[in-house]
Amino acid sequence: MKMFDVYPVYDVEIVKGEGSFVWDSKGERYLDMYGGHAVISIGHTHPHYVEMLTNQLHKLGFYSNSVKISMQEELADKLGKLSGKEDYQLFLCNSGAEANENAMKLASFHNGKSKVLAVKGAFHGRTSLAVSATDNPNIVAPVNKTDHVSFLPMNDEAALEAAFAAYGNEISSVIVEGIQGVAGIVVATDSYLKKIRSLCDRFNAVFIADSVQCGCGRSGKYYSHDWAGVKADIYTMAKGIGNGFPIGALSIAPHIEPRYGMLGTTFGGNHLACAAAIAVCDVIAQDNLIENAGKMGKYLMDEIAKLPNIKEVRGKGLMIGIELFEDTAAIRKKLVFEEKIFVGSSGNKNVLRLLPALNLTKEHCDIFLTSFAKLLK
Ligand SMILES: Cc1ncc(COP(=O)(O)O)c(C=O)c1O
Repeated sequence: MKMFDVYPVYDVEIVKGEGSFVWDSKGERYLDMYGGHAVISIGHTHPHYVEMLTNQLHKLGFYSNSVKISMQEELADKLGKLSGKEDYQLFLCNSGAEANENAMKLASFHNGKSKVLAVKGAFHGRTSLAVSATDNPNIVAPVNKTDHVSFLPMNDEAALEAAFAAYGNEISSVIVEGIQGVAGIVVATDSYLKKIRSLCDRFNAVFIADSVQCGCGRSGKYYSHDWAGVKADIYTMAKGIGNGFPIGALSIAPHIEPRYGMLGTTFGGNHLACAAAIAVCDVIAQDNLIENAGKMGKYLMDEIAKLPNIKEVRGKGLMIGIELFEDTAAIRKKLVFEEKIFVGSSGNKNVLRLLPALNLTKEHCDIFLTSFAKLLK
């Protein structure tokens, strides 16, 4: 059997990682400014993470959600404190798409409505409703097509108001990334997020904050939407919450009431996933990684802005987009093969993404800046 060939890959195999470095099968070391696609939050093979997962595996790998799993409560407690949403409720699943799928479904159960407003450029995942709310026709199969989802331009408050004025009573939810990742790091303005909050309140719609990529402290606040000073009704998470262990989560406002059977999953919230996510919360809290993400992000963005041939640098914390005047494919390839640095691409060919671990140091930033400056000349 061979692999179903859907990924264009670099001819490099990563076999080892430690902190912000990874090594390939030939023993070559790389600086990881990509975090395996915003997944590595506390660094590769963090000792506390390895210990928590190893200990758990020796005790119990899995048992189903039909019995009490007190680690889920420990995780809910720690996540509530870390995110400043202690009164919210936690539902655990396995991926970002699944988190968004469940969030839109839960919103619809909650208010009995079926329309979803999404934003142009959005990426919410590849399951049925999540992909329908993703602004990329190439990955929406005919079976996923639905009239339930409408797309509005990012940060266009007038368009949002017009949509609510036209069919506000049918709108079940508005889903928005605080910082769009795949679109090439497009930051939602505070004023736009406030407008979503006020219109959702007025029309009994649910505000879903997709924090799969921009959450878990990456932006310098636990949720990037926190920068706007508003609370969403549902936050969706994945990627950084498990530092590589597959886990998705919904943080759900207290006014949304659960009922038995409303949502469910076989694997969501299993013992190993909880051990991973608890370890991540512990390290983020103990090592002040949210604050570090803010500081290192500012340092990187300030320094990148001084380099030649940069059209724009944007983002928050350690979620940074660097827009060049040209396609970034060549420079990205040189970064990997010549400078031994991983960075991310984006849906916008001219934009590179930096999504490193939140415990990145100034020394790591300087390695990147020196190499990048050399290639830009
Ligand atoms: C903002 C956002 N939402 C959802 C997803 C989907 O997550 P997953 O690939 O875990 O299903 C992604 C993945 O890149 C994402 O960036």
